Amino acid sequence: MSLLLLAPHHNNLMAWKEALLEEDPNLDIEIWPNIEDRERVQFILSWNQPKQTLNRFPNLKVISSLGAGVDHILRDEVLPENVTVCRIVSPSLVRQMQEYILMTVLNYQRNMYAYYQQRTERKWSEHPNKKPDEIPIGVMGLGTLGKPVAEILAQNGYQVNGWSHTRRTIEGVDTFASDELDQFLESTRVLVCLLPLTSDTEEILNLALFRKLRRPAYLINAARGEHLVDEDLIYAMDTGWIEGACLDVFSEEPLPDRHPFWNRQDIMITPHSASFTLPREVAGQVIENYKRALSGMEVKNKIDRDKGY
Ligand code: GLV
Repeated sequence: MSLLLLAPHHNNLMAWKEALLEEDPNLDIEIWPNIEDRERVQFILSWNQPKQTLNRFPNLKVISSLGAGVDHILRDEVLPENVTVCRIVSPSLVRQMQEYILMTVLNYQRNMYAYYQQRTERKWSEHPNKKPDEIPIGVMGLGTLGKPVAEILAQNGYQVNGWSHTRRTIEGVDTFASDELDQFLESTRVLVCLLPLTSDTEEILNLALFRKLRRPAYLINAARGEHLVDEDLIYAMDTGWIEGACLDVFSEEPLPDRHPFWNRQDIMITPHSASFTLPREVAGQVIENYKRALSGMEVKNKIDRDKGY
């Protein structure tokens, strides 16, 4: 039986192999595309797998994402019906995402983006600090990442709203259910997207939605590029609905040179680096799931394939 690492564009695959072998030196690990025996592959660890690969393993039981998101697996046209899909859940993924969102909110609140720009122009000009209660924050998606992000923002004194498919109860956070999206947006100025990417959430960050936010708004997207309609963000910024954005994810990554986002000082761009999975930290949970899969037990952090998360 073997475990296949299927992530040809991943820059750190050897670290994964080493971390897994450190946990269990007897593991039989294959790395795509050098596979000795396709029939022995029962578990795949995948990140942006190439097309037409997932159906090549007749004894495959489980596909685990190398990260938190599983959209790349679920929208694969050749994902076999009977295969279980799961993902990584780890404290450091959560912690890094909390840091990223809190840092971005603070930078926005304290005008740091404007000051970085002024620094390049040797310009000395003050901006009033925004008060926390002037910038109510709305977190879309209250799952493994969104809930702790909403919590840390609330603990830092912000007024926080949370929106999710079914209403959640979170201390210090005003929560809204899916049919209360308008009320959620009307009480939000800084919008944070941490939604899973599904057919319901694709292109949810569009002009109609931006127009319902308190103005001027600020957008943070650390979920998936496909949540955002890029042209709508530019239009909303040019017309003053949104005064700035911080984007970590893009529908094409790396963000192409010619993309208009690069030309805008009011859009902060990070290279899908908000939160990295650390192989050493999660090797244990991957191996536990591998062994569960081999012995026919239910894996942990399993995805509901119909819901998409
Ligand atoms: C990163 O985007 C992840 O899904 O872990």
